[in-house]
Amino acid sequence: MSKKILTTSAGAPIVDDNNSISAGERGPLTFDNHQVFEKLAHFNRERIPERVVHARGTGAYGTFTLSKSLKDHTIAQFLQQEGQKTAVFVRFSTVGGGQDSSDYARDPRGFAIKFYTEQGNFDLVGNNTPVFFLSDPSKFPDFIHSQKKNPKTNLPDPARMFEFWANHPQSLHQMTILMSDRGIPSSYRHMHGFGSHALSFWNAQGERFWVKWHIKSNQGIQCLSNAEAAKLPPHGAQQDLVEAIDRGEYPSWTVKLQIMTQTQAQDAETNPFDLTKIWPQSDFPVFEIGQLELNRNVENYFAETEQAAFAPSNLVPGIGASPDKMLQARLLAYQDAHRYRIGANASQLPVNAAKCPVHHYQRDGAMAGMCPMQGGDINQDSSVNFYPNDRADQGSPVPAPELAAPPLPLLGEAWVKAHDTSAEDHYTQAGNLFRLMSDEQKQQLTSNIADGLAQATASVQADMLEQFSKADPDYAKKVQTAINERT
Ligand code: HEM
Repeated sequence: MSKKILTTSAGAPIVDDNNSISAGERGPLTFDNHQVFEKLAHFNRERIPERVVHARGTGAYGTFTLSKSLKDHTIAQFLQQEGQKTAVFVRFSTVGGGQDSSDYARDPRGFAIKFYTEQGNFDLVGNNTPVFFLSDPSKFPDFIHSQKKNPKTNLPDPARMFEFWANHPQSLHQMTILMSDRGIPSSYRHMHGFGSHALSFWNAQGERFWVKWHIKSNQGIQCLSNAEAAKLPPHGAQQDLVEAIDRGEYPSWTVKLQIMTQTQAQDAETNPFDLTKIWPQSDFPVFEIGQLELNRNVENYFAETEQAAFAPSNLVPGIGASPDKMLQARLLAYQDAHRYRIGANASQLPVNAAKCPVHHYQRDGAMAGMCPMQGGDINQDSSVNFYPNDRADQGSPVPAPELAAPPLPLLGEAWVKAHDTSAEDHYTQAGNLFRLMSDEQKQQLTSNIADGLAQATASVQADMLEQFSKADPDYAKKVQTAINERT
């Protein structure tokens, strides 16, 4: 193999990369060290802002294989024919910690899937839990602030976490999952994923269905206790995934759906668009639609995993959003984050670029370049940059109204206002989950809660105990006993 010559970023050969040019052997550096300046200046810009949440993560490529045609429910091209394969990129993450925090935090895990379909990218940006702490997006920054480090000490502060939860009973269901024996997955391979929100499907007849995605680990669920997690290296889950794929031991998941008709949604007692609630599987059974396999590691962590940009607004014809208030906010938040974190042209990077043609009237912005994924076009080449125009016959892009989602009727006499949901039932599903647990699981749950809650103020403890008691009196009793043992 011929030797590769070291060059500047403009391709000019570098003759010495160990010694800067100086005025005499012991003298100061001179202004013509432009190659050193380029190296140092680029180094200064090596970091991009880390994700404000889900900063610590790891990703891999793979394939989704459809095993059941969904053509009765959706026109989405990648869900039509059994055996159809779609390339994916998946990124797993923790939520609260920074990029160098531990993979083994007691924290939900992100499970974000980018399906590179022939009609554009569909991103399912979910977690390893079917519900979330909140039902209204205005609370998201407050919630995240309460879970991050104490602003004064920069140390983890469980008392602040419980102070938030004491003031937000809608978090009880997700908090019960987080504090349970399932709160620390032993690896990314051994956990389920959930789209969590209701999304919509629509078919060729214009019928709409509400859908929840479940991604079930074929490796089985494995979790860790706090003590087991504390002994593991911070990067262990990342290493586990990379090494399993390198060994050819490809992790896989069974992809399942729950489907609800529009009439069922209208008649449902529990709001099906409330992200703090599940859809009971007894009423809405899960059924298999395919297999997800991860089989290729990234070549460069920064270029691919760090610059990966997932957005719940990346939807394709046949798959739409739902009235879930949290989802509605996420439709805006992610692309906004990408513009700040990566830049206006984040979608041109290979890991984010669609694997189908992209034609639009957006132009310019930092790093508007040649997109190899788009057949090498440069900033949409010389094509016309405004719409409408008279050049459709010369290949200028036109909308496809035949792919429009069916209109969404508003429920009854809908009024536009801030809807107070504080009186909702935040307790039944959390209580149901508690009652499903074995004695050993209840012991782990209440002990994990008491570890943090014992550090909170008496009034926060009282508010939390009232919530537990509304879910199940035995839940409150066991937490109280565990707190007493710690104080
Ligand atoms: C209103 C609610 C929410 C807001 C405003 C929000 C906002 C954000 C933002 C700004 C990011 C960083 C994006 C980036 O820099 O690329 C992010 C990442 C993420 N969020 Fe959310 N989020 C919300 C709720 C949720 C929920 C409910 C889930 C799961 C069901 C979720 C799952 C994720 C995941 C998995 C990532 C990491 C994606 C990746 O791997 O790059 N988020 N979120």
